[in-house]
Amino acid sequence: VPLQERIESPFTPGVPVPQDYFVAREKEVNRLRAAVAQASSGRSKNIFLQGERGIGKTSLAAFACLVAQREFDFVGTICSLGAARTVDEVSSAVFRQLLQHLPEKSLFDKAKEAFDRYIKSIGVLGFRVEFTSEPAQLAHLRLDFIGYLRAFLERVSPPKQGIFLALDDLNGVTGQAEFTLFVKSVVDQIATTQRPWPLVIVLVGVPTRREEMIRSHPSVGRIFDVIELGPFTQTESSEFFETMFAQRGISVEPDALELMVNVSGGLPALMHEVGDAVFSSNADDRVDLRDAKAGVLQAADAVGRKYLDPQVYRALRSDKYRSILRRLGRTPLGAQFSRHEALRSIPSSQQKSFDSFLRRTRELGIICPAETRGRYRFANQLYQLYVRLEAYRALQQPQKGRG
Ligand SMILES: Nc1ncnc2c1ncn2[C@@H]1O[C@H](COP(=O)(O)OP(=O)(O)O)[C@@H](O)[C@H]1O
Ligand SMILES: [Mg+2]
Repeated sequence: VPLQERIESPFTPGVPVPQDYFVAREKEVNRLRAAVAQASSGRSKNIFLQGERGIGKTSLAAFACLVAQREFDFVGTICSLGAARTVDEVSSAVFRQLLQHLPEKSLFDKAKEAFDRYIKSIGVLGFRVEFTSEPAQLAHLRLDFIGYLRAFLERVSPPKQGIFLALDDLNGVTGQAEFTLFVKSVVDQIATTQRPWPLVIVLVGVPTRREEMIRSHPSVGRIFDVIELGPFTQTESSEFFETMFAQRGISVEPDALELMVNVSGGLPALMHEVGDAVFSSNADDRVDLRDAKAGVLQAADAVGRKYLDPQVYRALRSDKYRSILRRLGRTPLGAQFSRHEALRSIPSSQQKSFDSFLRRTRELGIICPAETRGRYRFANQLYQLYVRLEAYRALQQPQKGRG
C-alpha cells in the first residue's frame, strides 16, 4: 500500500459513504433494484426509506440511485429538501436537481428548454442552474408538477429509460399537511394516467416523518412501500471494520475488533467515527486493544460534539452524572429503563441528579417516556451509544475529575 494511502483514513464520518466502501444492505439494495426494474417496465414505484439518523439512509439511497443509472440507464438524483420551507421550493428543487444530474451536456440542453421560463441563470461550468424565486412562477411550476415531470422524461428518453428520484432530509416541510397533500396528489395522478411512468420515488426520513405524513393523510400509509433500515449485525460490523482497515494494509486483533463492534452498536455513523479515531490512534500495521481503547475514547468526544447539543454535551460530561451514565450505559441497545430500577443502583447522594438528568434529557429530546409510566427510552440509538461511550470513558478514567 502506498504511503499516502496508508496515512489517510478510509473512514468517512459524517458523509454518505463512497460507493466503493458501501457494505452490507444486500436485502434492501435488492428491494430497491426490484423497484427500479418494475418502474423500467412502466409501472411507477413509491418507497419510503426510513430509519434513525446515521443509520445509512442517504448512503443506501445514493447506492440505489447508482444501480438505477448503471443497470437500468435511469437518470437519478438524491434531492435534499433540508432547506425547503414550502412545497413550491420542493418542486423547483426537484427539477433543478434532476437537470443538474443529467450525465451529458446534450441531454441537459434538451431538457432545460422545458424549464426556460423558470430558470434565472445557468452556471458557466457544469450544469448549474438557478430557478426563479418569483412566487407566482414557482406556484405555477408546482401546480403543473406532473406536466413538467412528463416533459422532462420525454426530453431525456431515449436514451434514458426512467427517473429515480429520492427526496431526502424531509425535515421542515414534511410536517406540513400541504407537503403530504402534494406528494399524494402527484402519486395519485401518476397512478391514474394511462401512459407508462418509468419512475421511482423514494422518500427518505426518520420514522416520525412518515408517521406525521400518515397523520395528516392516512392513505400515505398505503401508497408507499416501507423499507426500514436497522443497525448492522455483529458479523456485518466486524466485516466492515476488517475490510476498511485491510484497505490500508492493517489487520485488527480480535479483542480490538470486538470492542469496536460493541461500542458502535451496528450504527454506521458511529462505526465510521470509531473506525476513524482508532485509525488515527494506531501507528503500525496492526490494531491492538490499546489502539482500540484510545480510539473509542476519542470517538466518544467526536460523537458528543457533533451530534449533541453543546449544553447536553457539557452536562453529560460533568461529574454529577457519572454514576448515572454508568448505570444507563448498561441498558441494552433499544431497551427501556425504569426510573425506579435505575435509582436502586445509584448512590443516594446522586439521586437528585438523576431526576434533573431525566428532566434535562427529556427537554432536549434525548430521552423520551416509554408507553408505561415511569419507564424511559433513548430517542435514538446514537444518543444511547454516546451515553455508553461516556460510561465507558468514566470507567476507564475513574479518578480524573472532569467538568
Ligand atoms: N452501507 C454502508 N456501508 C458503509 N458505510 C455506511 C453505510 N451506510 C452508511 N454508512 C456511513 O454511515 C454514516 C451515516 O450514513 P448516512 O447515509 O448519512 O445516514 P442517514 O442518512 O441515515 O443519516 C456515514 O458516515 C456513511 O458513510
Ligand atoms: Mg441522510
